[in-house]
Amino acid sequence: MSDHGLTTTLERPAPTKANPLRAGLATDRITDPCTIVFFGASGDLAKRMLLPAMYNLRVSDVLPTNFGIIGFSRSERSNDDYRADVKRAIDEFSRTGEARDPLWSDFAKRVSYISGSFDDVEAFKRLKTQLEENDEQLGTAGNRLYYLSTPPTVFATIVQQLQAVGLGPKDVGRGWSRVVVEKPFGTDLESARELQAVVSRVFDEGSVYRIDHYLGKEPVQDIMALRFANVIFEPIWNRRYIDSVQITAAETLGVEGRGGYYESAGALRDMIQNHVMNLLALVSMEPPVSASADSIRDEKFKVLSALRPIPPDAVDKVTARGQYGPGLIAGQPVVGYREEPGVDPNSNTETYAAVKFLIDNWRWAGVPFYVRSGKRLSRKNSEIAIRFLQLPHRLFGETGDQIDHNTLVMKIQPEEGVSIRFNAKVPGPKMHIRSVSMDFNYGSGFGVTTAPAYERLIADAMRGDATLFTRWDAVQRAWQAISPILDRWTSNPPIEEFPNYLAGSQGPLSADSMLVAEGRSWRKL
Ligand code: BG6
Repeated sequence: MSDHGLTTTLERPAPTKANPLRAGLATDRITDPCTIVFFGASGDLAKRMLLPAMYNLRVSDVLPTNFGIIGFSRSERSNDDYRADVKRAIDEFSRTGEARDPLWSDFAKRVSYISGSFDDVEAFKRLKTQLEENDEQLGTAGNRLYYLSTPPTVFATIVQQLQAVGLGPKDVGRGWSRVVVEKPFGTDLESARELQAVVSRVFDEGSVYRIDHYLGKEPVQDIMALRFANVIFEPIWNRRYIDSVQITAAETLGVEGRGGYYESAGALRDMIQNHVMNLLALVSMEPPVSASADSIRDEKFKVLSALRPIPPDAVDKVTARGQYGPGLIAGQPVVGYREEPGVDPNSNTETYAAVKFLIDNWRWAGVPFYVRSGKRLSRKNSEIAIRFLQLPHRLFGETGDQIDHNTLVMKIQPEEGVSIRFNAKVPGPKMHIRSVSMDFNYGSGFGVTTAPAYERLIADAMRGDATLFTRWDAVQRAWQAISPILDRWTSNPPIEEFPNYLAGSQGPLSADSMLVAEGRSWRKL
C-alpha cells in the first residue's frame, strides 16, 4: 500500500494462479486413523489404480496422519520386495509423478505385505498379527478397511476367512471395520444373492462399500449438482419436455489381456449392469430428501424398482448385441475379439450391448432410455444425452432450415463438461435458424485436472461416506432388470452372425435398426 492507502501498480500483489471458482473450498484430511488391506495386492488394478491413488491421497494431504497399508496376495515376497513393487507402481502410474523423498520414505515405512492364498487360514492369522502391530506402532486405532480387488470368485472366501480369524467387525472390540467390494457383485441375480448372504453374515450393510468407479468420476457426481443445485432444469426434467435419453459408455480399448474374465462377463455384465445402470438411476431419480448417503440411495433404488420388466419374448426387440471383428483403431490394425488371448475362437460373448429401458412412474411414463456400451468402437466417449421434444409449433425458419431438438449432454469422458444444443438465428437479413451449442468444460472452468475416481472412492470409504457406493437393494434391482436379457442371450445364439461390427466402427447395424424402428437414431460417437 502507498501512504495514501492506494495500491500502485508496482505494489499490487502478484496475480495468484488460484481459480476464483475454487476459492473457499476446505481441504479434506481424513480424521480417523486406519489400516487399509488390499487383497489382490499384486493385481493390475492395485498396480495401476489403487496404490497410486493411495500415494496421491498422501501427496494431497488427504490421508490421516496415522495410516498403514497391507498388501495381501499369493506370491511370495518380503515387505521390502513389496515396497519396491509399490514404488514401481507409483513411479509408473501416479498422476503426480514419481514417488519422492521425504514423502516416500515415510509412506514406505507404513507398507507391509502378507503372502498367502485366500483359503489359507494361517495367512489370515498373520494378517491379524500385522494389523495389531500397525495399531501399536502406527497408531491405527483398530480401524480397518479391507479392499477386495481380487477375482470375484474369492470375495466370499475372503470375507469368511476374516470372520474365522476374528477380524469380523463385531470381533475386533474397538475401531471400525469396513469392506470394499470390487465389481462385479455376483454374475447374475442368484449368485449376487448368494454372495450377499455371505457378506451380510459378517458385515452389516453400513460397512459394505460396493465400488463402481463410475460414481467416483467428477462429471458423474455433477449429475446431481446439475439437477438439484439449479432451478432451470428440474421443471423440464420429465415426460412433458423430454423425448428420450441416451446413455453411452463407448471404449476404443479391447479386452486388454482380460479375455478369460471377459468371456464369462460380456458387455452386459461388465458395463451395463453396474456403471450404466448407476448413470441411469442418477439421471432419472427423484430429488432426494437430503444429501445423505441413504436418501440418495433410496431414490436410486426407487427408480430402478420402477424399470419396466422386459418380457422374455420382447428381448430381441428392445436390445442389440455385437462382437467386434478385426479393424482399425486410430489407424492401427487390431485383431477381432475371437483372436484375443484367452478367448474362445467361436465365442458368442457380446462386446457391445444396447438396451431400451422404460421407467413406469409419473415422471418418465413413455420416455425411452436407450443405453449402449461397447469395446473397440470408433471413439472413447461416455455421455448422457437428454433429447427434448420437438417444438410444438414452428414459427421461424425458412423451408430447408433444420430446427433440431434441444439436447443437453452431460459429458463424462474423455471430455468432462456439459453442453446444450439450441437453435439460433443465423446473422443476416432472413430468419434462418441453425442449431448451435454452448459448452462448459470442467478443466478450463475450474482450472483443475480432475482426480481419478479411485482416489475419491478410497477416501470416502476411509471416511465412512457411502454415498458413492452401491447399496445392496440397488445391485439386486440392476440384476433383476437385466436378467431376462442375460437368460435370452445365454440360451440363444446371436441372430446376427458374430463378429458383426468392425473394430473402430460405430457398433453393429442391429443397434441402429433398433432405434430407426422408433424413429430415432444414436448420437454419433
Ligand atoms: C471396468 C470394466 O469396470 O470399466 C472394463 O471392467 C472397462 O472392461 C472399464 O474397460 C472402463 O472404465 P473407464 O473408466 O475407462 O470408462
